[in-house]
Amino acid sequence: MREPLASADVSVVLPDGAEVQAGTVASEGASSSAATSLVFRYTDSYVTDPRGYDLSPDMPRTSGPIRTWSGRETLGALGDSMPDAWGKRIIRAGTPARTTLDFLTHVNDATRQGALRLRDAQGTYLGAHNHPVAEVHDLTRIVAAARAFEAGEETDAELQILADAGTSAGGARPKATVTKGGELWMAKFARETEFYDPMAWEATALALAKAAGIHTPEFDLVRLSESQSILLSRRFDRDSDRRIGYISAHSLTTKSDNHTLSYSDLADTLAQYSPAPSDDQAELFRRIALNLIISNVDDHFRNHGFLRDHNGWSLSPVFDLEPNRRPDHVEATPIVEGGERYGRDIRQLRDAHDAFRLSRDDASAIVRDVAARTTDWTQVAVSYGISPEAAESSRRAIDGPNRERALAMTAGYAPPSGASNPRSAAQKRRGQLGVPGNSGQWARTPEAGTGHDDGHGHGDGLGRDAGA
Ligand SMILES: Nc1ncnc2c1ncn2[C@@H]1O[C@H](COP(=O)(O)OP(=O)(O)OP(=O)(O)O)[C@@H](O)[C@H]1O
Ligand SMILES: [Mg+2]
Repeated sequence: MREPLASADVSVVLPDGAEVQAGTVASEGASSSAATSLVFRYTDSYVTDPRGYDLSPDMPRTSGPIRTWSGRETLGALGDSMPDAWGKRIIRAGTPARTTLDFLTHVNDATRQGALRLRDAQGTYLGAHNHPVAEVHDLTRIVAAARAFEAGEETDAELQILADAGTSAGGARPKATVTKGGELWMAKFARETEFYDPMAWEATALALAKAAGIHTPEFDLVRLSESQSILLSRRFDRDSDRRIGYISAHSLTTKSDNHTLSYSDLADTLAQYSPAPSDDQAELFRRIALNLIISNVDDHFRNHGFLRDHNGWSLSPVFDLEPNRRPDHVEATPIVEGGERYGRDIRQLRDAHDAFRLSRDDASAIVRDVAARTTDWTQVAVSYGISPEAAESSRRAIDGPNRERALAMTAGYAPPSGASNPRSAAQKRRGQLGVPGNSGQWARTPEAGTGHDDGHGHGDGLGRDAGA
C-alpha cells in the first residue's frame, strides 16, 4: 500500500496515439481533508506542442497554475477520470486515500476513463494493478464481491477483485470493466436492493435509442436471475488499445457543481468545440426528444459525454438512460434557460429549434420520428426479460403526453428511409441488435417493476447536479 502523494505527472494519449506528458497535478490545502483542491500546471513542451489541446475548457493551455475554482471539486478533465461514489467507496476501503489527488491516483490505470494517465516522479504509472483486467466470464465473481461489499462483509480478496475491476467510471451503481473479445467493456449492475431489474430497463432504453437513430455503444444484457441482470457496453473511450480523450457535458460547459444549465446552453457550447456542430446539435436534439418521450430520470450533464479527435470534441455514444415510472418525478435538465425541470413539455423542445440550428419543420420531424420509431417499446422491454405486467406499469412514463404531442407534430420533412413504418423498422433493427442478447439466458421477471426508486446516484460525492 503506497503512501499518499503530493503530486503526480499527467500524461495524455493524443488522437494520433502518441502519449505525451501534459502537466503535473498537485494537492493544495489541508492534506487530511477529502476536499483538498488541485493545482495543475501544463509542461512547456505541451503548451507549444501543435498536437496538444486544452484537456478541458477550464484547463486552457497556459504556463501558469490552474486551480480548482469555488463551486467545483476538481478540474474538468481530471474530474471526469476520477472515481465517483462507488469507486471512492472501494478505494477508501482498501487504501488510506482521502484527498481528491489520492482518489485520482488510485484509479486503476488500465481502465481509467478517457486518455489521461498518471505517473509518479520515477515515471511509474500510478494505479497499475498486478492482475490483468478480468474477463467477461469473471462477472459472477465480481458481482458476488460487490454484493459482499454492499453488505459490509467483503474479504480482502473480494475487495481486491473490486479494485482490480476498475474504479474510474463515474456514477453510483456498482460497475466493473471487463474484457470481452480482447476489448474493454463496461459492466453495470443494479444495487442489491433494486428489484425491478433496472439494467433490463436500461438495455430497453438503449435499444429504443438505437431504433430512434441515436448513436449507441455496442451493448448486451446478461441475465443473473429473474429480477437482475448486467448491462455490458463496449467502452467508447477506447479504440482497441488506444485511449480516447473523454469529458462530460458538465466539464465542456464549465458549469459549477450546483448550478443548472439548460440544453440550449449545451447546444451553444458544443458548437464552439465540435468539429461538426450541426450534426452534433441535431443528434443532441434527438437525444433530448427521446429523454422526454421515455421520461429518462437520469437526465443531467454528466450523462452526456464528448470524445476527443484531431479537431475537437464530438458527442460520445449515448449512455445511462433510465425510463422512470413516475414521470412527474423526473427532475431534469431544462430545455431553455429558466425552463421547467419537472414535467417538461416536448413542444418546448420543438420551439427551441433555433438553439439547435434546426428549422421548426425539421425539429418537429425529428421529434415525431423518435416517437414513431419507439412505439413498440413494450415488445422491446419484454424481449429483455421484463414481464408484460411490469412493462405495463411503466406505460404512463413511456406512453405519456409527450409521446402523444410528438406524434401529433407535423412537418414537411422525410424521415430517413426505412423509418416510415415504425413497427417493421423497429423490428428489423431489433434483429440487428441481437435482442434478446446473445450471452445471457432469458427469463421473465414476474416481480420486475416493483420498488422503483427515483434519482439513484444523485447528490453523490461529486456534488453533481442534484437530480438534474
Ligand atoms: N460504454 C461506455 N464507454 C465508456 N464510458 C462509459 C460508457 N458508458 C458509461 N461510461 C462512463 O461511465 C460513467 C458511468 O456510467 P453511467 O452514467 O451509465 O453510470 P451510473 O452509475 O448510472 O451513473 P449515475 O449515478 O449518474 O446514474 C459515465 O458517466 C460515462 O462517463
Ligand atoms: Mg451516469
